[in-house]
Amino acid sequence: QTGLKTKSIGREIEYVESCASTQIIAHQLAQEGAPDGTVVLTETQTAGRGRLARKWDSAANKGAWMSIILRPDVAPQKAPQFTLVTAVAVVRAIEEVTGLQPQIKWPNDILLNGKKCTGILTELQSDADGIQALIIGIGLNINQEKDDFDAGVQDIATSLKMESGEAVNRQKLVQSLLFYMELYTQMYIEEGFAMLKILWESYSTTIGQPVRARMTNQTLEGIAEGITDDGVLQLRTADGKLHGIYSADIEMTNK
Ligand code: BTN
Repeated sequence: QTGLKTKSIGREIEYVESCASTQIIAHQLAQEGAPDGTVVLTETQTAGRGRLARKWDSAANKGAWMSIILRPDVAPQKAPQFTLVTAVAVVRAIEEVTGLQPQIKWPNDILLNGKKCTGILTELQSDADGIQALIIGIGLNINQEKDDFDAGVQDIATSLKMESGEAVNRQKLVQSLLFYMELYTQMYIEEGFAMLKILWESYSTTIGQPVRARMTNQTLEGIAEGITDDGVLQLRTADGKLHGIYSADIEMTNK
């Protein structure tokens, strides 16, 4: 009895007590033909991974560590948009279940009071025919205390419990998240990104702000003016030039 209100996302749930990473399991299931909407969920990960090959702290029984397999019929270059769509779904679920008001830091961090409570990692299986599967990893910090995080991230990470002062029902949060994931991915597939972009921007802490964008081979500073319909960050530097940022680490320079 999962209490789910969805039609496709979470109809198949692969629940494991512990694993290295739900991303690894989901990649394998996707290769074996798992259907669109399959969810892999675990209580703890021994090798949870984040963007840019970083480690993701996955304390036992205190978060929601999951990977969702989607099989959308869209071009591979649209994959980053699914990160943005997922971010909106996460924000809505947190709002609904806790009343907290999270913000999105482009592209994939969900923040509460400036600290990260959720990370999203979108990975792609594609071939000449296009996207075979998207593996959307979501790491939601729910009931951790400060000490549950590695010393190195204690100043930048937070949990819903730390911000609201109360333990949060993890099952309710996962149900709500899967509901919004289905709603918004369907909206995206049927209507495109326009509506979702407005929602995304309304939750964004990045847009309109001065930022530093660190990329592999350069760092740019300027004002984050918005995102394009493809989810590319538009950054205006002091010389007036507008740069399209596809992937970077963003630091807010006014905080
Ligand atoms: C990031 O902010 O860098 C993304 C973090 C993504 C973490 C989640 S937890 C569930 C899934 N399995 C993983 O190994 N990573 C993602």
